Amino acid sequence: MGLLFLALFLMLVSADSADEAAFIGVNIGTALSDMPDPTQVVALLKAQQIRHIRLYDADRAMLLALANTGIRVVISVPNEQLLGIGQSNATAANWVSRNILPYVPATNITAIAVGSEVLTALPNAAPILVSAMNFIHSALVASKLDSRIKVSTPHSSSVILDSFPPSQAFFNRSWDPVMVPLLKFLQSTNSYFMLNVYPYYDYVRSNGAIALDYALFRPLLPTKEAVDHNTLLHYTNVFDAVVDAAYFAMSDLNFTNVPITVTESGWPSKGDSSEPDATLDNANTYNSNLIRHVLNNTGTPKHPGIAVSTYIYELYNEDLRSGPTSEKNWGLFDSNGVPVYTLHLTGSGTVLANDTANQTYCVAKESADKKMLQAALDWACGPGKVDCSALLQGQPCYEPDNVFSHASYAFDAYYHRMAMGDGTCNFNGVATITTTDPSHGSCIFPGSGGRKGTFGNTTSLAPSFNSTASASQSLLSHSRDIYTNFVLVVAVLWIAVCFNDIQSFCS
Ligand SMILES: *[C@@H]1O[C@H](CO)[C@@H](O)[C@H](O)[C@H]1NC(C)=O
Ligand SMILES: *[C@@H]1O[C@H](CO)[C@@H](O)[C@H](O)[C@H]1NC(C)=O
Ligand SMILES: *[C@@H]1O[C@H](CO)[C@@H](O)[C@H](O)[C@H]1NC(C)=O
Ligand SMILES: *[C@@H]1O[C@H](CO)[C@@H](O)[C@H](O)[C@H]1NC(C)=O
Ligand SMILES: *[C@@H]1O[C@H](CO)[C@@H](O)[C@H](O)[C@H]1NC(C)=O
Ligand SMILES: *[C@@H]1O[C@H](CO)[C@@H](O)[C@H](O)[C@H]1NC(C)=O
Ligand SMILES: *[C@@H]1O[C@H](CO)[C@@H](O)[C@H](O)[C@H]1NC(C)=O
Ligand SMILES: *[C@@H]1O[C@H](CO)[C@@H](O)[C@H](O)[C@H]1NC(C)=O
Ligand SMILES: *[C@@H]1O[C@H](CO)[C@@H](O)[C@H](O)[C@H]1NC(C)=O
Repeated sequence: MGLLFLALFLMLVSADSADEAAFIGVNIGTALSDMPDPTQVVALLKAQQIRHIRLYDADRAMLLALANTGIRVVISVPNEQLLGIGQSNATAANWVSRNILPYVPATNITAIAVGSEVLTALPNAAPILVSAMNFIHSALVASKLDSRIKVSTPHSSSVILDSFPPSQAFFNRSWDPVMVPLLKFLQSTNSYFMLNVYPYYDYVRSNGAIALDYALFRPLLPTKEAVDHNTLLHYTNVFDAVVDAAYFAMSDLNFTNVPITVTESGWPSKGDSSEPDATLDNANTYNSNLIRHVLNNTGTPKHPGIAVSTYIYELYNEDLRSGPTSEKNWGLFDSNGVPVYTLHLTGSGTVLANDTANQTYCVAKESADKKMLQAALDWACGPGKVDCSALLQGQPCYEPDNVFSHASYAFDAYYHRMAMGDGTCNFNGVATITTTDPSHGSCIFPGSGGRKGTFGNTTSLAPSFNSTASASQSLLSHSRDIYTNFVLVVAVLWIAVCFNDIQSFCS
């Protein structure tokens, strides 16, 4: 059903834009202690209808397993091999004849990523980067493969300086001697600029300057949108702002017709104690919204409707990667091919993993104000007509006896009674949707159905849909959040009373 939906979605998208529809691909890192063998990897790709992948090398067994699958493959020259290739045309030609010629056309290799974030990760190889790309391209020309296989190199977004407002962005000038010939090469070979975009790191490093909602593509109040004062373009998410910064940085060097493909983007689903925003819900929200954004062919504010195809980082959690916990948890799947979370595109389907159930729950936000929670709880158990008897002393959901826990139960009951409709998990911004079953002990939350802890927890569709909308936004969007309207009515009554006479009552 998910597959059918994706196919339908892609048909609609390609019908919409005759020339080029954006696609979603997935990166495949292999630092797993129990790395599945290539046939298992390909079986997973097929089962999940993943049509575009990027490999970090040109592994022979992988390329053979991908033959005749129709899957489009970007292969890579690992950074370790770059110096040799950049210094010798013969080495480059040899690389192409060993790593490409044996596999095409059965394996559909569409691009070669020459190195990975070379300017920032391996700066001493920067001077030969463009030579390496040229040599590889020449070898492709010699084999008449240059029209089929593009040559490019992925960049870290940190090569772009002053990226907000995007219109003022430029590439770190130290790299102009590399960047200018590189862009000339991309332009003259009809290739594209490869960019890695990590709103997670932008958010974490911003020390609060970037809002989580802005990084996660969640709806923002119009007043919270970032406006580029030079162009008056409005930015509703970090991803678009970074991609536009790259477009502006290229045009700063007078290159205006090189398209961008995002070679990596994602969000970690788990982190250590210093990484509180690496969570299942955030990873699911980011990747679900990213997929929808890309497949919708929305483009960016600077280039609306221009495809920005994107490869998600990454297919598997890589347990062998060093660094903080988050480093090991960027994957969509574990090594057994079990989804870490189930992505949702819309209420009607999924991509990349099976939609097994509608298990979402509405709970109190951890950061919510206690008074606002209490007011929302009172409303839910009163005018909201939720059966709150389970919260009474001696009943299963009385413990823990705190407003956060009680409000969560009442919000979830309301949300499920309203059939999880849009805007029914808001409560003036103090509620949020989660995929983690909040049931505990004998306290079973509405919607749980006793499936707690079983595989196939579906993840939330709704965080992207106004679940954090505030009162004024709900009003603007005519969302069906009755509680918000109730609060406004109370506020209006309060103002009316206070403007009349009983002043002392109102202080
Ligand atoms: C290979 O991929 C390219 C680019 O997506 C596509 O145009 C072409 O039809 C594919 N070839 C095969 C044999 O699938
Ligand atoms: C590199 O080799 C290719 C053949 O593989 C040749 O066409 C090209 O002229 C060579 N380039 C240089 C700079 O030697
Ligand atoms: C620009 O690149 C140079 C060379 O890598 C680096 O030393 C410098 O810190 C970068 N500038 C900024 C502002 O990041
Ligand atoms: C870009 O073009 C403008 C106008 O033709 C020129 O003044 C400027 O020097 C060019 N910049 C670069 C980096 O080539
Ligand atoms: C999809 O694209 C349309 C315009 O083409 C836009 O109005 C809409 O907001 C987009 N939806 C998403 C989820 O990006
Ligand atoms: C997903 O659905 C397909 C086809 O319905 C099924 O063969 C496969 O086992 C399912 N995968 C998971 C992980 O449930
Ligand atoms: C999930 O719930 C929505 C409405 O809440 C419904 O339209 C949809 O069919 C459900 N999907 C599944 C797989 O049960
Ligand atoms: C499912 O939920 C349980 C707890 O409710 C959690 O421990 C587990 O990691 C979740 N699994 C997935 C695949 O989301
Ligand atoms: C979310 O809010 C926006 C306005 O902020 C509105 O246009 C949109 O329809 C809402 N989406 C849903 C699913 O309610």
